[in-house]
Amino acid sequence: MPAQRKPIVAIDGPAGAGKSTVAKLVAQQLGLLYLDTGAMYRAVTYGVLAAGIVLEDQEAIVSLSAESEIQFRGSQVWLNGQDVTQEIRSPTISAHVSQVAKIAGVRRLMTQQQQAIGSHGGVVMEGRDIGTQVFPKAEIKVFLTASPQERAKRRYQDLLDQGQRVGSLEELEQSIRNRDFQDATRDIAPLCPAPDATIITSDGMDISQVAAAIVELYAQSTLQGVCS
Ligand code: CDP
Repeated sequence: MPAQRKPIVAIDGPAGAGKSTVAKLVAQQLGLLYLDTGAMYRAVTYGVLAAGIVLEDQEAIVSLSAESEIQFRGSQVWLNGQDVTQEIRSPTISAHVSQVAKIAGVRRLMTQQQQAIGSHGGVVMEGRDIGTQVFPKAEIKVFLTASPQERAKRRYQDLLDQGQRVGSLEELEQSIRNRDFQDATRDIAPLCPAPDATIITSDGMDISQVAAAIVELYAQSTLQGVCS
């Protein structure tokens, strides 16, 4: 009999909802692997811009993405042997990533890698389409969101903490709204809660409260079926 796959925790949601911080904490508390799928799309976008490829040239972007080696080393992200951890969080990458992430060939390649990483389960994976496309059978599905104002405030603080150049809070809120719109209206794997996802609106909740709610969902899911 094949070994049973360990549970998968899928955390999806819009920009700046706190997915990364929460997902890392949940993974740490449950002793699971953590995967930030957004970092993969950001790394490809970094490679595209660095190579001077125009965003309209989808064929060149897919080829480049097929040749790109993305590695996670602890909390660092490496692209083709280069540490791009800081660079992929820049406002330029944030402004262009949705245009790269909507390309079918790019999504196919990223999805395959994500499914390979999670094939044995035991992972907390965060992104936009984990519960809908990458692991539609994930045991725990969370759609984490917050009001655009709250998300802009959090992201503003994150960028300041990272030493990134930030414009005004209003500009940041507008860029977050633009990215959400592009991600939610694209043809393939749009940002959208899975029908069976638990929606958590985190305005007024701190990180540890959100993490505790997800850990509780995990505990409940592992109890299901023990009597059958
Ligand atoms: O951290 P933040 O919420 O700003 O976004 P991210 O998770 O780093 O994702 C950056 C972008 O990658 C998103 O705006 C999407 O366009 C794309 N993405 C995606 O299409 N599918 C995923 N599973 C994860 C990210």
